Amino acid sequence: MSGQKIVVLGTGGTIAGTSARAGDNIGYTAAQVGVEHLLQAVPALQALTDCHLHTEQVAQIDSKDMDAPVWRALALRCAHHLQETDVRAIVITHGTDTLEETAWFLDQVLAADKPVVLTCAMRPATALTPDGPQNLLDAVAVALTPGAGGVVAVAAGEVHGARWVQKVHPYRVNAFSSGDIGPLGFVEEGRVRLTRAWPKNQPSALSGKALAAIENIVDAAQWPRVEILMSHAGASGAVVNALVRDGVQGLVVACTGNGTIHQALETPLVRAQASGVRVVRSTRCPEGQVLPKPGDVLPDSFGLSPVKARITLMLDLLGQGAD
Ligand code: SIN
Repeated sequence: MSGQKIVVLGTGGTIAGTSARAGDNIGYTAAQVGVEHLLQAVPALQALTDCHLHTEQVAQIDSKDMDAPVWRALALRCAHHLQETDVRAIVITHGTDTLEETAWFLDQVLAADKPVVLTCAMRPATALTPDGPQNLLDAVAVALTPGAGGVVAVAAGEVHGARWVQKVHPYRVNAFSSGDIGPLGFVEEGRVRLTRAWPKNQPSALSGKALAAIENIVDAAQWPRVEILMSHAGASGAVVNALVRDGVQGLVVACTGNGTIHQALETPLVRAQASGVRVVRSTRCPEGQVLPKPGDVLPDSFGLSPVKARITLMLDLLGQGAD
């Protein structure tokens, strides 16, 4: 053994899912198998490296139920391990459904110059051909790649950066995309072929401030309340007014096209912003980003998808509260 560790943090998901009927790819229960067992089922993993594979079960959930307290626990465990000199990298097993959100959350709060690699599966561990074992192997290969760093996602032989990764398909095994920017690289028989540089996270004002603010949270109610709304044909402002009355602090709008909003929704949103609610425009288009124009009243999300814009706004509000 090299004396170095790769820390594998388990959070659940389909990769840890089982079905009563062997081979059932959709009628299964996520988050059943512990991370230790997931690793034991892939003996080739230890053959890849002389690093010790240290496992921790941080959560055991279907990632549709992901929430800020689990993100907090995960971020604090990552921050703890990243500062240990004998830790080479972190691998996180996760459900596919909110993987992009967790990746972005960690990207925003960690100063991850070492690799933090999220991986997952579309088929449960009991499938006839589960994709989890290969994804785990590929994730560890990425974690071991010299020069690797930052928060990335690995699935179906592709490496995606936290900023762009998005689940784009509810069933197929290659369910992730980085949109028009494309994957960061590919994993081919244990070797990584990059298409651009690793997204190494340098310590930033946001990451330090956000992590400190997160550490101080003792009650889930302390997380800023940020909701996502969609502009669509026939939209009404009733939901905006109800949320403002209910004390919402931030609203992200999944706008049509280049950040446009149905007039019935726009008027109450502008009013909400004037009353102190933070409003951010993203686009419901799966690719591309809102291009700002002179005179925009509601700010745009700097290219972030609605779910990622929500996280950035939540962390921003949290940081402001900590000032
Ligand atoms: C989940 O996101 O936890 C369930 C679905 C999946 O992992 O594919």
